[in-house]
Amino acid sequence: MASPLRAAAFADDAAGRQDKLKNSDSASHSTAPADTFFLPGPVLLLGAPGVGKGTQAQLLVTRYGIPQISTGDLLRGNIARGTELGLKAKAIMSSGRLVDDGIVNQMVLHRLQENDTHRGYILDGYPRTLDQASFLDATLASLDLPPRLPVVAISIVVAYDQLLQRITGRRICPTCKSIYNIHFNPPQVEGVCDLDACALTQRADDTEPVFIERMRTFEEQTAPVIAHYRALGRFEEADGDQSVDAVNAAIQTALLLLRQQVPQAAGR
Ligand code: AP5
Repeated sequence: MASPLRAAAFADDAAGRQDKLKNSDSASHSTAPADTFFLPGPVLLLGAPGVGKGTQAQLLVTRYGIPQISTGDLLRGNIARGTELGLKAKAIMSSGRLVDDGIVNQMVLHRLQENDTHRGYILDGYPRTLDQASFLDATLASLDLPPRLPVVAISIVVAYDQLLQRITGRRICPTCKSIYNIHFNPPQVEGVCDLDACALTQRADDTEPVFIERMRTFEEQTAPVIAHYRALGRFEEADGDQSVDAVNAAIQTALLLLRQQVPQAAGR
């Protein structure tokens, strides 16, 4: 049975992803109380499709008690609800291209102003173009939202062949959003969710041809964003080609380091 925390985590886009990979003690992360002393501020998780942004964002949500804002999840939510935005996004996402900057920027602008972001948040999959990065930088400067800390960026890096396996092997429970992987984290019964016995599904964009297009898009449009934040100096890289917990430890170390380097706003 899902714990209250786990059940709450399934309630919205911000925490809809669960990962139960072998070699991971992520269950122990989910039962520990959140660290509310450390002020994470805005954190960007950057990286190619399948590097583990969603998996790691979920662990950081539990660790620091701040929300995950995944533009991919927000867009898929719109598709599931059949909104006008979802109808526009569906074909684009299944082709591996990016949804228009204007649409995504407005979605993020709206989400950033919700009340749960005052200690920080994890942006997962945004910004993905230089225009989105400029929009985010300008928005944060003009909105002056708490916690008034500069953005820090952590880029996760994984080899191409491993990414292909992770993407094509991913299966998701449409009900509780648990993430499985037929290679690295299979369910007990093939094709069936361990938690609620629902039939697992595959994302429309998790095929090899679409993965190739997503990687092309990443190299063309998102790699420059990573270079942008690297040049700003509030940037660390994490090796994502290790166990989930090892990646998580590397990210937490990077985050602490980045917040020590960047002076915290006075009085916060
Ligand atoms: P989005 O949903 O953001 O997809 P993505 O960036 O391609 O990333 P994924 O969700 O595929 O992977 P992930 O890095 O989160 O990995 P995960 O943790 O799930 O975007 C989808 C589409 O939406 C885009 O193509 C675009 O069309 C649109 N879109 C979204 N944002 C947009 C934006 N800002 N602007 C414009 N368009 C936008 O892990 C993957 C698999 O690996 C899982 O099976 C997991 O179990 C496994 N795994 C994770 N960690 C490990 C590990 N350490 N070892 C072994 N396996 C692991």
